[in-house]
Amino acid sequence: MIQGTIDKIAGPLVVADGMRDARMFDLVYVSDYGLIGEIIELKGEKASIQVYEETGGLKPGDPVRTTGEPLSVELGPGLLTAIYDGIQRPLDEIRKEAGDWITRGISIRGLDHDKEWDYTPVASVGDEVSSGVVLGEVPETVLITHKVMVPPGISGKLTWVIDKGSYNVDTVVAKLESPNGDVVELRMFHNWPIRKSRPVAEKIAPIEPLITGQRVVDAFFPLGKGGTACVPGPFGSGKTVIQHQLAKWADAEIVVYVGCGERGNEMTDVLQEFPELEDPKSGEPLIMRTVLVANTSNMPVAAREASVYTGITIGEYFRDMGYSVALMADSTSRWAEAMREMSGRLEEMPGEEGYPAYLGTRIAEFYERAGNVICLGNDRRNGALTVVGAVSPAGGDLSDPVVQATLRVVKVFWSLQARLAYMRHFPAIGWLDSYSLYTTNLKDYYNRELGEDWVPMMKEAIALLQDEANLQEIARLVGAESLSPEDQLILYTSRSLREDFLHQNAFHEVDTYASITKQRIMMEVIMSTHHEMRETLNAGVSPKEMFNLPFKEDIARMRYIPEERLQDIEAIKDSVRSALTDLVEAEQSA
Ligand SMILES: Nc1ncnc2c1ncn2[C@@H]1O[C@H](COP(=O)(O)OP(=O)(O)O)[C@@H](O)[C@H]1O
Ligand SMILES: [Mg+2]
Repeated sequence: MIQGTIDKIAGPLVVADGMRDARMFDLVYVSDYGLIGEIIELKGEKASIQVYEETGGLKPGDPVRTTGEPLSVELGPGLLTAIYDGIQRPLDEIRKEAGDWITRGISIRGLDHDKEWDYTPVASVGDEVSSGVVLGEVPETVLITHKVMVPPGISGKLTWVIDKGSYNVDTVVAKLESPNGDVVELRMFHNWPIRKSRPVAEKIAPIEPLITGQRVVDAFFPLGKGGTACVPGPFGSGKTVIQHQLAKWADAEIVVYVGCGERGNEMTDVLQEFPELEDPKSGEPLIMRTVLVANTSNMPVAAREASVYTGITIGEYFRDMGYSVALMADSTSRWAEAMREMSGRLEEMPGEEGYPAYLGTRIAEFYERAGNVICLGNDRRNGALTVVGAVSPAGGDLSDPVVQATLRVVKVFWSLQARLAYMRHFPAIGWLDSYSLYTTNLKDYYNRELGEDWVPMMKEAIALLQDEANLQEIARLVGAESLSPEDQLILYTSRSLREDFLHQNAFHEVDTYASITKQRIMMEVIMSTHHEMRETLNAGVSPKEMFNLPFKEDIARMRYIPEERLQDIEAIKDSVRSALTDLVEAEQSA
């Protein structure tokens, strides 16, 4: 263990001398407090250390010890339901040990090493195993079976496996003889450096959507399982609400929620809500499939940097078991700002708006850890890690370097607009400039699950909204009444699309989630009404007569009809048809 001493302290940055044999990204303990830090620059004997805890009270000459290991997380049973800080310290353990005050220099391991788990071996003595092969299973929560796997980089022949039983994570559960004759002991957990992506057998393109129950997302701008999305928007536009909605409703088996540098009360919302919320499929508390990483605005800046890596490493680990994992990071801007602060203190050459020149590379590397994959192992199981990052540029300015760097790598852009939020159209995802590059990949899925007419119907709906934008310009100049009946109908239907379909109230008990079946029926009602109205116009009925029929109210109420009563939505089609037929008949007999 190398012993250096503090040379100078600048906020979260500590420069230490006498660190000749240390390595980049080594984990270090600073001063007798044992504050946790990471070496982010080495120049001769001087190491610049990003310290993840408050540095007040440190002084030149204080000792610095390196561990010789990179900053890592512990991966094993006990991750689910945990609430961690940015460097995987369980928040409740910190509180127990330190009260609400001093939380510095506390070394607490990410997993509980005393707790015993029911372990059932699935591999046998004599098996040739390699990275990713499942050794045994642990029912980690009522919802999730944890697969204890051979860690990356290890292979050989199993020489011993433990019997079924109750053990803590330190227990050796299998021994193998590696090709060079070494005996390797495998435990229920292993460590993994957070900045290094975990290997997979193969990456494949996403072919299934991550169903979120949020209509504008699922229908218009879908996210593939294993895909990436970016939600930029100004303050108050709904970034946090959409991330919460995804965490609650997305059909992922595991959710990792990283609260990065945002207000503490938003994280408290998650912490209070999740244990109470039920998983829609099982009725069990949602927290049973969730890992929370909380690094709120009142916690040290540098740890924000670590929190996104801690989160994504845990996400990759569950993906490796063959689960579909969704990771939400709110907000990646706070992470980028932490990078900027450290870079500034290191006096690196600044890039755009003071962000380091490597901002784009870091962001790209982060999102590249998402993917739909074939996992390592012997059964070609499929896992997916979907990543959704909120970005909060000042004033919602999309030319912001973090937004731009993110848009270069992600495949879905949900553009939150201040204008929509101001009009209380939520989710405030703009339909004209948002996009999803997964639609083509997902086409087979839609044809199979929602029928071959779903994709054309969607395209027609989006086209109507684009036409609306153009017509609104004209209507402003000449007045809506002077538009042709056909154009008036376009305005009528696009308004219905916006208000009755895209608008979705996250806080309404029914409206908060819509299955894709419900989405399909709702869309069908709106679009078939559109088509029937067009025919009605052709039969000579005036737009005015048509636009105020009572079924308008029924269509506006579709959102609030629960999933068990979808036939009530279906039935609206008939009432639309008969009302319009009546109009045509009246017109013809007149
Ligand atoms: N889908 C939604 N349904 C209802 N209200 C919403 C929705 N999305 C956002 N809001 C409203 O907007 C407010 C701000 O959203 P929030 O996610 O906190 O913004 P941001 O994180 O972008 O600053 C919320 O408190 C809520 O009142
Ligand atoms: Mg927010």
